[in-house]
Amino acid sequence: MMHFDSIDAYKGKIKKILITEEEIQSAVKKTAEIIDSLYDGTPILLVSILKGAFIYMADVCKNVTVPCEVAFMTAQSYFNDTVSSGKVEITMDIKQNLADYHVVILEDIVDTGRTLSEVVKILKGRNPKSFRVITLLDKPARRVVDFKADVSLFTIPDYFVIGYGLDCGEHFRNLPYVAEYNTEA
Ligand code: IMP
Ligand code: MG
Repeated sequence: MMHFDSIDAYKGKIKKILITEEEIQSAVKKTAEIIDSLYDGTPILLVSILKGAFIYMADVCKNVTVPCEVAFMTAQSYFNDTVSSGKVEITMDIKQNLADYHVVILEDIVDTGRTLSEVVKILKGRNPKSFRVITLLDKPARRVVDFKADVSLFTIPDYFVIGYGLDCGEHFRNLPYVAEYNTEA
C-alpha cells in the first residue's frame, strides 16, 4: 500500500505517458481481431491473472465476437535474485476443466517472465485443446527465463510502468493510459 500527502505528490509519480488511451484502445481492437481470426467461430476460454490484466480482459472481451467464457486466477510467486525459476502457487484457481477448452491467456505485461512461464506450465499440464498467450506489454530487456508470448502488442523499454491495470503499491491501476512511474519524486 502507498500513502500520498497531497494530490500533487500523487500526480508527481506519473512521469510520462508512454502509451496513450487512444493507442491502447486501438491495440484492444487489434487484439480482438487477432483472436477472431485465429479462432474463426470456435469457442474459447479467456483467462487472466489478477489483478494486472483486469482492464485489458474487460476491454478485449467486449470486442471479441467468437463465443467466449472468461476466467480469472491469482498466483503468488516465491522468487529471489538467485533463483530464477521455481515456485508459483495458484492462490485462486479457475474452475473450468481445460481439456474442454481452447485457452487464451490475456496478460498485462511480461517482465522477467517467471510468473507466466510457471503458470503456463501448470495450465498446459491440464491438456487444453489449444493454448496461446497474448500480452499487452512486453519488456524483453528484463527477461530472466526464456519466455515468449504468442502475441505481444507493445514492446517497451526497461521502465517501471503504471496504469491500465498496472499498479505501484495498489495505486494507478485506474489510469486509462500507460505511464512511466517516477521513482524520484
Ligand atoms: P514477471 O516478472 O514477468 O513474472 O512479472 C510478474 C508481474 O509483475 C506482472 O504480471 C505484473 O503484474 C508485474 N509487473 C512487472 N513489471 C511491471 C511494471 O513495470 N509495472 C507494474 N507491474 C509490473
Ligand atoms: Mg500480470
